[in-house]
Amino acid sequence: MFTTALAQRKLTQTAEPPLDLFEAIQALKRELNAIILAHYYQEPDIQDIADYIGDSLGLSRQAANTDADVIVFAGVHFMAETAKILNPNKLVLLPDLAAGCSLADSCPPEAFAAFKAAHPDHLVVSYINCTAEIKAMSDIICTSSNAVQIVRQIPEEQPIIFAPDRNLGRYVMEQTGRNLVLWQGSCIVHETFSEKKIVQLKISHPEAEVLAHPECEPAVLRHATYIGSTTALLNYCQRSSASTFIVATEPGIIHQMQKEAPQKHFIPAPPMNSCNCNECPYMRLNTLEKLYWAMKNRTPQITMSEEIRLAALQPIQRMLEMSPS
Ligand code: 13P
Ligand code: SF4
Repeated sequence: MFTTALAQRKLTQTAEPPLDLFEAIQALKRELNAIILAHYYQEPDIQDIADYIGDSLGLSRQAANTDADVIVFAGVHFMAETAKILNPNKLVLLPDLAAGCSLADSCPPEAFAAFKAAHPDHLVVSYINCTAEIKAMSDIICTSSNAVQIVRQIPEEQPIIFAPDRNLGRYVMEQTGRNLVLWQGSCIVHETFSEKKIVQLKISHPEAEVLAHPECEPAVLRHATYIGSTTALLNYCQRSSASTFIVATEPGIIHQMQKEAPQKHFIPAPPMNSCNCNECPYMRLNTLEKLYWAMKNRTPQITMSEEIRLAALQPIQRMLEMSPS
């Protein structure tokens, strides 16, 4: 019987996954010569099987340096896309192609092109949480761990557009004393932490320190003991003498915090709605089972035009040069 590739894939995916997904994924990793890169916001099982877990900068560095043939990216689309921009000849797999990012979506290319045209003398520094099209229109990419460091390296007299996250942009303005023209984007996870509930938690846990990602709103950041990228927050909770932390970022990171500091207590900061924690709906689309099927079927994979890739590559390379490890 004749079966199309799509029908064949559907047939394969309706098959039962193996009982031991961990073992099956390890076997596929050897077969494909693959590396699994995962962000801290992934579910604990994915973090536990990953070869490397990190923040966006660490993941980009790993992607730039790997000699694997296949990169399995357990994160969101812009992260896997960055890996593909750096590795045009490698197969880059994302377990669920719908794993997008509200921040990247908040900066559509056409509107951004008009914004850029309205500020012709400005240099464009874009947060890595944006599409390849926005990267292609940017001069330098940054992440939450190097944004301040990168803006400090740009001459004082050079005007700058910072996109797409207004909260990280505002934080960079405070830290550098620079006046940046901000694109008004935001992240649905970090903008919904409740200042009121964080203050209530501080009252009931007076010994606790508040850890916050710079994508949070200023009302939350002003209560933070420490502000940083996911990796920076993880490192801080290990060296701090505090034993309790209120964590104002996606709660997936608490899995690593608990592993690195098992004697300490981590409380996820609650959002404004009735939930107790604030998971990223995009990051959580990836599951261990989808990761298995992606490796088994070598799909879904990241693709893009060579023209966009080459234009997006330059500002990423500039970032890597401006923030040596
Ligand atoms: P980090 O680079 O700090 O891990 O941030 C990634 C992200 O998407 C935060 O929402
Ligand atoms: Fe995007 Fe926010 Fe999810 Fe990070 S947490 S991937 S910025 S939607």
